[in-house]
Amino acid sequence: MTANGKIALVTGASRGIGRAIALGLAQRGFDLALNDIAAQAEALKATADEARALGRRVEELHADVSDKGQVQAMVETAVERLGTVHAVVNNAGILRASDVEHCPEDYWDSVMDVNAKGTFLVVQALLPVMKAQGYGRICNISSIGGKHGAPEQAHYSASKAAVMGFTRVLAQEVGPFGITANCICPGIILTDMGRVNLDDPDVRGAWQAKTAMARIGDPGDVAGPVAFFCSDDSAFVTGQTLNVDGGIVLS
Ligand SMILES: NC(=O)c1ccc[n+]([C@@H]2O[C@H](COP(=O)([O-])OP(=O)(O)OC[C@H]3O[C@@H](n4cnc5c(N)ncnc54)[C@H](O)[C@@H]3O)[C@@H](O)[C@H]2O)c1
Repeated sequence: MTANGKIALVTGASRGIGRAIALGLAQRGFDLALNDIAAQAEALKATADEARALGRRVEELHADVSDKGQVQAMVETAVERLGTVHAVVNNAGILRASDVEHCPEDYWDSVMDVNAKGTFLVVQALLPVMKAQGYGRICNISSIGGKHGAPEQAHYSASKAAVMGFTRVLAQEVGPFGITANCICPGIILTDMGRVNLDDPDVRGAWQAKTAMARIGDPGDVAGPVAFFCSDDSAFVTGQTLNVDGGIVLS
């Protein structure tokens, strides 16, 4: 039995927000199934080792979340090795910047495949497990970009809006089985992906000026709110979308 008796699957856990979420859950007593693509194996192992150093049981699972076969195999392996999965954080995501007029079809497809379809596939594979145990916590990482968005991110914004719509309906379907489903919308967070918005000091300054907390977010800022949605403290909270953005005023 773990400290809190719960096991969480985190996708895209090798770096950035996913890594911070994994370590935040480990600190709170979750054992972990940590996913990323095979190309990130080394970084994923580093995250896993940090969580193990906190005393947790951790499995590393390489899979592309946009591939149904790989996702099914990942969930089967997680259940086989850890016994079950109580909570999932659908964090894996990509951003490929382009304006709408010049956006290659491949950008649209890959961004929708990872961000929107990946979330759907992971949830679909886990629902039989969660329903059988009458318990589940689903936390999907959307984005403030899914509510407002910025130029050159229309396809990203569409994928993140899809995650929010998906989660609201999912919550209604799974509630009777003791499963909650919620979204987190991070604001501007300093990660490899976040740097797309932040490399230009003027852009960075503009975002900071729009933020009540007057700073750019750290990946660790996202971990606490995610842990809340993964815990029993949020047992009667479902279908919700929570901004974790330091109070960005978007209009
Ligand atoms: N950084 C920000 O400012 C910000 C803001 C809002 C939302 N988000 C969202 O937060 C999540 C994490 O973003 P981040 O900033 O840490 O980005 P990141 O690029 O640093 O990390 C994303 C992780 O997802 C993994 N990944 C990508 N494609 C995958 C796939 N097909 N299967 C499995 N794993 C895959 C990557 O290898 C990487 O480890 C994403 O969903 C992103 O859209 C980020």
